[in-house]
Amino acid sequence: MPETTEPTRLTFAIISHPDAGKTTITEKILLFGGAIHTAGAVKSGKNLRSTVSDFMAMEKERGISISTSVMGFNYRGRRFNLLDTPGHADFSEDTYRTLTAVDSALMVIDSVKGVEERTRQLCEIARMRATPIMTFMNKLDREGKDPVELLDETERELDLKVSPLSWPIGQGSEFKGVYSLRTGRIVLFKPHQTQDFPELVIEDIGDPKLDQAVGEHLARKLREEMELVRGVHPEFRVEDYLSGRVTPVFFGSALNNFGVQELIDALAEMAPAPLPKPTVEGGLIDPDFKEMSGFVFKIHANLDPRHRDRVAYFRICSGKFERNEMYYHTGTGKSFRSSNPTAFMAQNRDIIDVAYPGDIIGFHDTGTLKIGDTLTQGAKFRFKGIPRFAPQIFRIILNTDPLKSKQFQKGLEQLAEEGVVQLFIRPQTNQRILGVVGQLQLEVVQYRLEHEYGASCKYEPVDFTTACWITCPDAKKLDTFLQRFSSRIVFDKDERPVFLAENRWVLDRTLKDFPEIKGYATSDLEDPRNSLR
Ligand code: G4P
Repeated sequence: MPETTEPTRLTFAIISHPDAGKTTITEKILLFGGAIHTAGAVKSGKNLRSTVSDFMAMEKERGISISTSVMGFNYRGRRFNLLDTPGHADFSEDTYRTLTAVDSALMVIDSVKGVEERTRQLCEIARMRATPIMTFMNKLDREGKDPVELLDETERELDLKVSPLSWPIGQGSEFKGVYSLRTGRIVLFKPHQTQDFPELVIEDIGDPKLDQAVGEHLARKLREEMELVRGVHPEFRVEDYLSGRVTPVFFGSALNNFGVQELIDALAEMAPAPLPKPTVEGGLIDPDFKEMSGFVFKIHANLDPRHRDRVAYFRICSGKFERNEMYYHTGTGKSFRSSNPTAFMAQNRDIIDVAYPGDIIGFHDTGTLKIGDTLTQGAKFRFKGIPRFAPQIFRIILNTDPLKSKQFQKGLEQLAEEGVVQLFIRPQTNQRILGVVGQLQLEVVQYRLEHEYGASCKYEPVDFTTACWITCPDAKKLDTFLQRFSSRIVFDKDERPVFLAENRWVLDRTLKDFPEIKGYATSDLEDPRNSLR
């Protein structure tokens, strides 16, 4: 960041399976970072049951923060911007989008359960952009999996090299502390003590002080494990973490504040500064680029009737953002000015005057901004879009009140733009098909159509559970394919054909039978990694 004394930003999100401890670790990071002073300030979204009324009640109670809020604080010379992501799996798409706005991720794994489904999915998304990932193995105070096994499982399941930077001494009721491979310090765990853990500094792991502190048996075990670790894992290099090839691993217990200091220090020291971001035109925009630029990664409509507004979440990628400046909307060519951009800290929304690369700000907007839109000071480029991912649940949506068909159409289009659902058109019948990741999204659409647009709808089932975007260099062959499978073909909002299938087997089989047709797991058709063959 040129010409400023601003602290370098550290913009990151936490990825984990529900219950692994994301809320607890978020709170502890805020506590250690000095952003909050008491525990209990961060609410978990996990208690949200799968009904729309629970969701709405929660939205009202928590205001903007349920889907994505940004928590910012300064720590050790850096500005941490921690982007919260929805706790409910039905809103995974929000999380996917949030991951495009961060420069690194913290992965929390429950050491009792190991790598779980949601972690696997989110890790895969993070890796699509080679996002650096730091790992925290949580709940070491419980009898969990063996640390060697946990590391093996992480490597195997996530196809990601691991490099332990700390190592647990015992586990569960025998948990005695953590040895830092970086500093040689041993922090000794005291159950029910939440801060100021005693420390032992040893020059060498053979030091008899270790046996006195943790007992002979665990000291011997640690020495053996260290020998094994050093034999198996090459020495950690920060470049490998920054390039997304290796994840440094820390062990601890978020609930007991244990290992959190090491983690937050490692983040401050190693996590990347704002990274250059790719554009549709092919280049990268460096944070040092003098013009302000950034993109919208999320639109959130506040459901609280007292504050009915839409907030566009904007990630600054370069230059300096200034309130009331006129910016250029590269999609429409129109100008855009924001007189009340806001910063987020949990539930508070304060107006900000300036912001820098890595910062996330909110624009109150009446509908001019869409997900993926780029704003600049005049430069004509667009940041690479946020791909849409193949949904898993599909429903035909029908308007049930013919007098309200305009409202129905407008509402549906806006909700699709906001990213609440994906809207597809089936050309054969002109039906509208919604695609979602979770059932709750469908209920939200129905509720919001009724309450915000005065329209009513009903759903009809379809047999599909998976989809892929398709292309073919030969327009004639593509046309033949589209004709042949017309009952399975829909078009997305950019009018690109999407093939729907009952299951993955049918999808793979069809692509195999038509080798000239290319299938893609996301709407990003330029990225060869999305190709299904
Ligand atoms: P999430 O946001 O990833 O869903 O997880 P959350 O932090 O809410 O943690 C899930 C449960 O795991 C919580 O217990 C929490 O207290 C517990 N937990 C988090 N970190 C640790 C840890 O280091 N050790 C142990 N033993 N437990 C941990 P809960 O009973 O579901 O909720 P609560 O009543 O404690 O709030």
